[in-house]
Amino acid sequence: MSILKNGALWEDQDKNPIHAHGGCMLLHDGWYYWYGEDRREQFYVSCYRSKDLKNWEFRNHILTAGSKMEGCRVRTTLCLKNEEGGKVNLERPKVLYNKETKKFVLWAHYENGKDYREAAAALASCESPDGDFIYHGHFNPYGYMSRDCTLFQDDDGTAYFISASRDNADLHVYRLADDYMNVEALVHRLWQGEYREAPAVVKAGGVYYMLTSFCTGWAPNQGKYAFADSMQGRWSRLFPIGDETTYESQPAFILKKDGRLLYFGDRWGGGGEKYFTSGYTVYPLEAENKQLILRRTEEAAL
Ligand code: DGJ
Repeated sequence: MSILKNGALWEDQDKNPIHAHGGCMLLHDGWYYWYGEDRREQFYVSCYRSKDLKNWEFRNHILTAGSKMEGCRVRTTLCLKNEEGGKVNLERPKVLYNKETKKFVLWAHYENGKDYREAAAALASCESPDGDFIYHGHFNPYGYMSRDCTLFQDDDGTAYFISASRDNADLHVYRLADDYMNVEALVHRLWQGEYREAPAVVKAGGVYYMLTSFCTGWAPNQGKYAFADSMQGRWSRLFPIGDETTYESQPAFILKKDGRLLYFGDRWGGGGEKYFTSGYTVYPLEAENKQLILRRTEEAAL
């Protein structure tokens, strides 16, 4: 295994590039599953797994333009290709395991592949972590725009979907239904007019922290964080973290491993063909007394 350099596009154990951008990780039965955007060919979301976070095995293209589609009780639009037959965009896919239904439920940001006006949430599910996910379509929660997003699962299993609304001006927090297949309440409209993207949530030492970026397309910007005593409680104002480019990254997710917090970020190559050169960063994150500190390292802090 070669050293994983921050900012580089890493390779899996077969020496193929890992395309799991804007993603998330889930620990299940001793494996870390890494899900993320894969914009190659007819793929949308790909899944890799690892025991040590360093050696990655490609598992499956879990969502593609040809994925099986099935409506669910949410009234959604079932289409994985746009009117011209081109690909749509599924960005920032996040997956949670629902212990009650025993299903892996995926939420993502949906766009029509041409512009960012659809601003919708997409839903998919599967009975195994790396099987072929069934696509349940996209919708606008309570009619709202929904762009950059994340999921957070609380200790009691209650899950939240957090997404940028009103052309990214506000960040909405939705509590999910107990099967994670719909929103159940809009519990917050945070930081109105602050234009926060790329949300990532972690609970550490009994405190909830949310990390976000500003809104500058593919270019990195100053990250900010806030804290709260509970997801539905009062969130603090925003505090800067890292430097003015968040050490050349944009948040993807935060992983807790062996008592440490690992910040996973994307170092985007840019739009068009440059997107495919996008790499990954893992920086150590420290949480103490409602303060979050991010440190820059050359190697991934795995
Ligand atoms: C910033 C978002 O965080 C990304 O997921 C992507 O949508 C780019 N904007 C597109 O410009």
